[in-house]
Amino acid sequence: MAENALARIAIISSFIIFVALAVTSSDASEAATKYHFENLKQTNFVFYMHDLATGRNNLTVNAVAGVPHKRWWILEFGTVFVCDDKLTEEYGWDSTEVGRAQGLYVNSQVDAKSVHLLVSLVFTNKEFNGSTLEIQGADKFTKYREVSVVSGTGKFRLARGFATLETVNLDIPLLYAIVRWNVTVFHY
Ligand SMILES: *[C@@H]1O[C@H](CO)[C@@H](O)[C@H](O)[C@H]1NC(C)=O
Ligand SMILES: *[C@@H]1O[C@H](CO)[C@@H](O)[C@H](O)[C@H]1NC(C)=O
Ligand SMILES: *[C@@H]1O[C@H](CO)[C@@H](O)[C@H](O)[C@H]1NC(C)=O
Repeated sequence: MAENALARIAIISSFIIFVALAVTSSDASEAATKYHFENLKQTNFVFYMHDLATGRNNLTVNAVAGVPHKRWWILEFGTVFVCDDKLTEEYGWDSTEVGRAQGLYVNSQVDAKSVHLLVSLVFTNKEFNGSTLEIQGADKFTKYREVSVVSGTGKFRLARGFATLETVNLDIPLLYAIVRWNVTVFHY
């Protein structure tokens, strides 16, 4: 009787130790493989996006549709924009262009505080010339937000990843925003 109980305790405690070890090792391997996909390269880069909705020259974005009898602008739910935003290496408008963000965004939150962003990053710099990244996500009107990299072409075939966006300049009268992008992408 007593021997049986001891044996049972021994079996149960070794089972507990086994489970504990299994949990520990799966935690460790999960941490080690966080954001790590087999045989994929990780590329990180930063650039600045210029989104300018006013002015005769340099216009990069246009409101093309919206709710009837409402103003078609960034702070109105339902307004659709087409953009060809300039992407530069550094902060300034005149800094070296590295590509364009071509596509559209739609104010898609009823309180008007977020847009759905759907653009191709079309690169023209030396490193990624001709390659593209497909971006999609909720682009909230907060200083920082994150959108998805859902795929790509050229050097970025089958890519996926994410980008953190930070509004670094917002000129309301000019309707001019400069957004810093920090992209993390996994690709072949
Ligand atoms: C628009 O382009 C002109 C000429 O290239 C430049 O001088 C001006 O600073 C630009 N405007 C803005 C708001 O970037
Ligand atoms: C990018 O590719 C185009 C077309 O092949 C070429 O004309 C251009 O010079 C290239 N740009 C750079 C920076 O390599
Ligand atoms: C970009 O984002 C990555 C991952 O989120 C972060 O580790 C890195 O420090 C950031 N780099 C810059 C230059 O902001």
